[in-house]
Amino acid sequence: SPAATLELAPLPPTLKQKEAEVVRYDLPSGTAVTVHGWIRTIRKHKKFAFVNITDGSYDKVLQLVFNDPEQVNDLGVGVSVEVNGTVQRRDSLADPYEVLVEKYHIVGGVPEEDPYPLQNKYLSQDYLRRELPTIRFRSLSNGVTMRFRSRAVYEISQYFAENEFIQTHPPVITSSDCEGAGEVFTVVSETSSSPFFGKKAYLTVSTQLHLEALMMGLSRVWTLTPAFRAEKSITSRHLSEFWMLEAEVAYADRLEHIMSLVEGLIRTILTRLKDSGEYQSVLSVKTFLEKQKSQGGEGDDMDKEITRAILVQRWDGMLQDVAWKRITYKQAIEVLQQAERQGQAKFDTAAEYGDGLKSEHEKWLASQYAHGPIFVTQYPSHLKPFYMLPTPGSGGETVECFDLLVPDLGELVGGSLREYDYNRLQAAIEKAGIDPSELEWYVELRKWGSVPHGGFGMGLERLMSYLVGIYNVRDVISFPRWVDHCVC
Ligand code: 4AD
Repeated sequence: SPAATLELAPLPPTLKQKEAEVVRYDLPSGTAVTVHGWIRTIRKHKKFAFVNITDGSYDKVLQLVFNDPEQVNDLGVGVSVEVNGTVQRRDSLADPYEVLVEKYHIVGGVPEEDPYPLQNKYLSQDYLRRELPTIRFRSLSNGVTMRFRSRAVYEISQYFAENEFIQTHPPVITSSDCEGAGEVFTVVSETSSSPFFGKKAYLTVSTQLHLEALMMGLSRVWTLTPAFRAEKSITSRHLSEFWMLEAEVAYADRLEHIMSLVEGLIRTILTRLKDSGEYQSVLSVKTFLEKQKSQGGEGDDMDKEITRAILVQRWDGMLQDVAWKRITYKQAIEVLQQAERQGQAKFDTAAEYGDGLKSEHEKWLASQYAHGPIFVTQYPSHLKPFYMLPTPGSGGETVECFDLLVPDLGELVGGSLREYDYNRLQAAIEKAGIDPSELEWYVELRKWGSVPHGGFGMGLERLMSYLVGIYNVRDVISFPRWVDHCVC
């Protein structure tokens, strides 16, 4: 390989790579190996001791066998070790080998007076986040989520590349509030009292406007970028900093183009995540945690965990062999009102035409269609941002937009066709009461060779929390930020 000719230093192998090597080369018992990891459990018997180590590269542990139980006296849970030993092949395919230890050394110990805080019992997500914000990535539950997220982003990138989308990197600091909702964080500099950029600047709430400019040159573009929202809503699906997946498509002149793109993307990545084994890992960790939880644990949100059974239902629901349901906002209101009249549902807030759908409405709607997702289209224009294209023939009453709703969570994706006419966009901005000078550059895109187009935005954490069956979006991002919370 090129690396060999250049004599580049290979990295110390992960436990996952080591296992692959043992299987691939069918290494016999007795082969010398060196492995590294953190101790998860220690079991001392009369004649032997067993120590399980892990390194987070996959959800398995490697069993170390000590012929003399006294050898493990210096070891403790959480300690990191380097071990020299020999391969002991096993018959089970799940664990193809263990290591008979010859010698080891402690790479990083754990002080006796301050024991390793990740106890070997069920710890709820809430407990892990609150008590162990930096240690939680070593837990089985957070490890599997982080690996799943990484693989999902890989699959998303693949899907876009295969469909001729160009990945772009729009800015995070902007001079406009894309959604016009006023939920922006302002960027200020500690070094100058006057505005650093000569005018007000914000952290982006959505890169859509810049993505539209990129689309005008590149046709199909996508990005995965942090987005920031100063929303004070403390809910299980809102973060102040989250990752938004956005795409924009030139010449898309039907909402169906964008809905099909979203449906195709999600179905494809789900299928591939299943094939990659990541889904199976999530399920097996769920089984383990459910068993552990039944033996007691720590944390007050223990009951909020989504069970393995519900998770399987979710995935099956999304992958059914029928297209996801599409209904208009008007139909959605009628369905909700009828359900309440007929006693099939009871909402805290009655659904009224002209009002936004509440999260309880969204969740109920999504649970109605064989537990699959549902697209709700063409909302009244006053509920949506200025940039959306009015539905032809509606006199501006509704816009060409959709929300994708999923059971238990509600809104997962928002998308629309964009207004591409210069004068009509200018008028929409004025009508929304936005200072037109802020968006001059954006409106001007419609001056030169404007094209019909559309796109969508999906919160990556919402998708992850839905797919791994973790209740709160705070637990699928590494360092969550929400109002009054910005620790470490
Ligand atoms: O529906 P939203 O506000 O749409 C936009 O920002 C469009 N400009 C996107 C576009 O068309 N390019 O947000 C899109 C998605 C939501 O459906 C949700 O999944 C997620 O972003 N989202 C959040 N996720 C976590 N925390 C928050 N505070 C979120 N706000 C929105």
